[in-house]
Amino acid sequence: MPHDIRFSDLALELQEKAREIADKYVRPHAAKYDKLQEYNYDAARAVAEAGLFKTWIPKEYGGNGAGVLALALVTEQLAMADSGFGVAFAVNALGSFPILLGGTEEQKKKWLPQVASGDKFVAFCLSEKFAGSDASGLSVTAELDGDEYVICGEKKWTTNGGVADFYSVFCVTDPTSKSRRISTILVEKGTPGFEVKKVEDKMGIRCVPVVETHFDNVRVPKENLIGGRPGLGFKHAMMTLDHARPGVAAQALGAAQGALDLALVYANRRKQFGAAISSFQMVQKMLADMAMKTEAARWLIYSVAAGVDAGNAEKIAKTAAMAKCFATDVAMEVATDAVQIFGGYGFMEDYPIAKFFRDAKILQIYEGTNQIQRMVIARKLVKDAANLGHLDPYIPTETQVSYSKDEALSKS
Ligand code: CAA
Repeated sequence: MPHDIRFSDLALELQEKAREIADKYVRPHAAKYDKLQEYNYDAARAVAEAGLFKTWIPKEYGGNGAGVLALALVTEQLAMADSGFGVAFAVNALGSFPILLGGTEEQKKKWLPQVASGDKFVAFCLSEKFAGSDASGLSVTAELDGDEYVICGEKKWTTNGGVADFYSVFCVTDPTSKSRRISTILVEKGTPGFEVKKVEDKMGIRCVPVVETHFDNVRVPKENLIGGRPGLGFKHAMMTLDHARPGVAAQALGAAQGALDLALVYANRRKQFGAAISSFQMVQKMLADMAMKTEAARWLIYSVAAGVDAGNAEKIAKTAAMAKCFATDVAMEVATDAVQIFGGYGFMEDYPIAKFFRDAKILQIYEGTNQIQRMVIARKLVKDAANLGHLDPYIPTETQVSYSKDEALSKS
């Protein structure tokens, strides 16, 4: 069911600010930060000063309450210039959604304003070496000892790790329970025993660190247990991913649009056989397909994000997975075709398009592989098919089809 998409004045204002920052602080330096694998603090500061970290945080917690549709618009603009910077921004939403969606009032008042102001960056520690798609199989433990939780174990692929000031960490607090095994606990950078041990050397999104986070008897106050009760962690993780996936989709949309725009400029400029390659039908077909897919992704994302803002909790998991899966597959396809249009030059790092291609791959993997998204979508479809009973009489049974079709229907 499509949602009513309304862009508030505030959302459009934030989108415009994001475009300005992308033009001034992100695109001109994207190649440098990619090569050096360094974080673009200047752009992050500009984002904070423009108030863009307030976008997904309600007014009562220091944000501007613009919502998830506005978050998508902002992320799209930043990712159009540099997909890596798009995630460097949006991962703060991922890291803070557990507090926003599952935290106590006291926790929201304490932590969220620090994110909204851009004073503190945040990260999300769910995945482990042996628990990726099977998120509930995680093994980092947290044991209550007096007034503190003691956390032990290792997390893998923590995006923003090292840069972030605090971390939403998913830990086993009750190994004997099936449904209440996991809890979410906030850990601050600098807490003794908490360390970034390995900074990954990545194929793409190289301007944002992805690290291993190690917890060696890390003691945190029990007030940092999100929601104030143990056992809510898996639900927090799932709800967070449902809310954050339209943001990944928007990152993919920006990446696709950015790659398409570069391909268009190049196709008009590059001459072969005495004419711009954009005049050749085969290149035109590629450009048209790239644009159609990007546009389809755009409106799916906006519609899903508007649905999240409308609080349509029932449908969020399925539609968020659809937007994430569709848009990230589109980003990979569009980036691949864009490299093709650049030809031999597209394969070289002298041209910006190779980076779009490298950056696109992770979109199909993180925040749930696209295989997991399809599983989430299919599970919901199959469950909801119970509501389609009125169609049952129109489908003959295997026994009925031994008669002619008309006979079979008359017997049903
Ligand atoms: N909202 C709320 N609750 C949910 C839910 C949702 N969307 N989905 C499931 N749950 C609840 C279920 O109701 C169930 O609760 P009860 O036990 O009380 O009945 C419980 O969670 C378990 O549900 P499932 O049986 O469906 O769980 P599962 O283990 O079969 O599979 C999964 C769930 C969908 C595969 C899940 O593990 C998943 O999403 N995996 C992918 C993990 C992922 O996306 N990781 C990304 C890491 S973050 C990252 O990549 C960020 C980055 O670097 C930028």
